[in-house]
Amino acid sequence: MNKIIYLDAAATYQKSDAVLAAMDDFLRNHYANAGRGICQRVADVDDMLVRSRARVAAFMNARPDQIIFTSGTTMAMNQIADMIPMRATTRVMVSDLDHHSARLPFVQRICDKAGQVVVCPLDENNDIDVNNMPYADVVVITAMSNVLGQEQDVAKIIRAAKDKNPSVITIVDAAQFVVHKKIDVREWDCDYVCWSAHKIGADTGLGIIYKKDINVNFGNLIGGGMVKRVNADGQIVWADGPERFEPGTLPLTQIAGLIPAIDNLEKNRPNLGLIEYLYDELVKINKIKILTRRGAAVLTFVVDGMHPLDFGALVGVRGFCVRVGIMCASWIMQRLNVPGAIRVSIGAYNSRDEIDCFIKVTKEIVK
Ligand code: ALA
Repeated sequence: MNKIIYLDAAATYQKSDAVLAAMDDFLRNHYANAGRGICQRVADVDDMLVRSRARVAAFMNARPDQIIFTSGTTMAMNQIADMIPMRATTRVMVSDLDHHSARLPFVQRICDKAGQVVVCPLDENNDIDVNNMPYADVVVITAMSNVLGQEQDVAKIIRAAKDKNPSVITIVDAAQFVVHKKIDVREWDCDYVCWSAHKIGADTGLGIIYKKDINVNFGNLIGGGMVKRVNADGQIVWADGPERFEPGTLPLTQIAGLIPAIDNLEKNRPNLGLIEYLYDELVKINKIKILTRRGAAVLTFVVDGMHPLDFGALVGVRGFCVRVGIMCASWIMQRLNVPGAIRVSIGAYNSRDEIDCFIKVTKEIVK
């Protein structure tokens, strides 16, 4: 088997030539550390950071000074959980759409402080039930489940949360959403958003935090670049902008690939018509139970009488990469009452021929 058919973009997106070229060019021709010298090379890296931050800001309808670079969504959620003041009385709302990394950082910290986690119910379509949201001080919203691929109405959820508590802090996990839909932080009116660059075709090790107010709630991560200076009496003078949240050397090579990745994505999002086509074919197979809606961004299913891991192994040896298992989303698996599932997800690079090959092999396996 020479050819791999990669249908796992929701786990990580394949890289375009433009992204690879930008990272290669940076490493070969422009490599230096940012903010650590006054030579032309360092000035060029600093300039790249400014341009990249501005590009991310425009991509999300934010201001550049609201964009923090971090290492990925998981780290972002941990950083945000550290920034938010949590007390014994704090109520954190989560939902069963959450990826482990969206919920667990808050659960862990709130348990430490004896606060309370409240689970917002889902409606009959497995969407966040806006009409039955509990009162909360902190709301964690998974904008699109990595298992179900359904867009949540984030603006409406945030409005409902604010109706109950005008000072609620709202956090959006947009790791899957960012691939398929435009993020507009002003329309959402949220306090924090995060996503991972590798999900949109840049490299691993880079993530984004949008922070509405950069001047409140500081975290526990401390490092050199976050301070302007330390006075002789030990007083720390902190950096003014998002740099205050960026300790240590940033993942510069990954950042070099970020602008072309965003450019590519905006020009060419994954063709979800292919997922609908796959849905229409798999729905005809009796032994397959599809767990996602037609029109969702991913197709997730189980096979009657076959464990998802067995299916994954059988298509895997035939050259197909799909995600199988609980997908770091225990709660939705429990709600769906399955031990795990099989997920097909696509990038803009996937073709109808590849989907046809997957359908053919699936029919052979699921006889
Ligand atoms: N959370 C990613 C996925 O769903 C890794 O595959």
